Amino acid sequence: MRIAVVGSGYVGLVAGACFAELGHDVILVDNDETKLRALQAGEVPIHEEFLPELLERHRGERLAFSASLPHAVRASDAIFIAVGTPPTEDGDADLSYVESVAREVAEAIDSYKIVVEKSTVPVYTSTWIRKIMILNGAPPDLFDVASNPEFLREGTAVTDFLYPDRIVIGADHEPCASMLRTIYAPLTDGSYYRNRLAIPQPSHARIPARLIQTSTNSAELIKHASNAFLAMKISFINAVANICECVGADIEEVREGMGSDRRIGSRFLNPGVGYGGSCFPKDVKAFNAVARQCGYNFGLLDEVEQINLNQRQRFLRKVRNALWTLKGKRLAVLGLAFKGGTDDIRESPALEIIQSLLREGCGVTACDPAALERTRAIFQERVKFVDDPYDAAAGADALLILTDWEEFANLDLGRLRELLRYPVIIDGRNLYDPQEMAEHGFIYSSVGRRDVLPARPALAPKPAATSDGLKKTA
Ligand code: UGA
Repeated sequence: MRIAVVGSGYVGLVAGACFAELGHDVILVDNDETKLRALQAGEVPIHEEFLPELLERHRGERLAFSASLPHAVRASDAIFIAVGTPPTEDGDADLSYVESVAREVAEAIDSYKIVVEKSTVPVYTSTWIRKIMILNGAPPDLFDVASNPEFLREGTAVTDFLYPDRIVIGADHEPCASMLRTIYAPLTDGSYYRNRLAIPQPSHARIPARLIQTSTNSAELIKHASNAFLAMKISFINAVANICECVGADIEEVREGMGSDRRIGSRFLNPGVGYGGSCFPKDVKAFNAVARQCGYNFGLLDEVEQINLNQRQRFLRKVRNALWTLKGKRLAVLGLAFKGGTDDIRESPALEIIQSLLREGCGVTACDPAALERTRAIFQERVKFVDDPYDAAAGADALLILTDWEEFANLDLGRLRELLRYPVIIDGRNLYDPQEMAEHGFIYSSVGRRDVLPARPALAPKPAATSDGLKKTA
């Protein structure tokens, strides 16, 4: 198939590269010419496993880049809209980018095409796209609008696309549904997985991929409802973690007990500093706005959001409890990205927590395997950035863990203990076992578990040390 993907952000870039991987001819369209030039020159703007390989494999062959939407429309059978839908002040999705793409597609259309929403959009957006296209001169029988929501997660986006739990296609007419089924056929008939060069299969992959065909309205709702449900799962477990703290229970035990019920499932039940990123916070708000607009009070979603925001405040309270006053304290922060495996800092709980710490007069030294540059652009000189977690820890009054990077889950605890000024660790992602931390001499606080004190007496505070272990002279 000949496919145009409009918007080279996260979803568009991954979808474009993966469609090319499935054997289609793809034109990726963006109006940002600098970005296009960078992509053409072989740069990869996001940190995503396997994406560099796919871009390298298909660039200039089955994957082209263009700033001309009319050209891409005329050269394609299917046009996927993957532009941003940021939240407005009221929490609605701002659909102005989608609307302007629909207008341009309408003006360029010259033969039957399908226009497919890939961005996360509220229910009825497909109806609006159709209306706008007709108002802008597109003959009604020359196109259909479909919904094909994307369920990829940042960090595992390529494997999520190629080994999906399900592919949802929402189409109200058979010719349109049939084109979408053809596009995904290599995944649903399994032929892609027999390809020797296929991207390696992750564990628990469902092969061949399952395709669910629905109406366009249902497909739009599936996306919002899925993200809101996952966010609810996280807020639920965070609320249970808070109760664990009150009654002295252990959230990891409770989580295992709950998650082993297959009706509940253990995934997305990790407590922490709350969810962030460019999807859950925005989609919970947007789904709530959809409910409001259709006259339904979905108060549960207000609560999901509130619990999520409170998690950050609770974490700050733990820091205060551990250090008493914050003014003038030096804190090592491990983790800036909204989750491990990505350089994305949008709506990252870590950033809001750092803002609060700076406001209270703390000095912050931060470290992250991928998100340093993006965060530096925000805080500039107000935060010190280092590449190595041990450099961050050197001489700090406490160490805070804010992102679940694997790199932070296997630190040399003896070395850390030696480097920190006080043996205080506040872990917002439960990366360590409290008992082990106590045995290594730490005062350790985490989420939904009892705080622990050193199993052996804490040593007297040490003079500031450098990461190579040398004591600094005052
Ligand atoms: C999310 C969904 O998981 C994808 O299915 C969806 O396609 C995507 O949004 C989207 O709509 O585009 P993503 O935002 O990349 O994907 O990240 P997640 O892995 O879902 O994590 C979101 C946040 O929840 C992160 O801050 C993460 O740390 C937090 N989280 C996740 C928890 O606090 N606990 C958990 O158990 C799981």
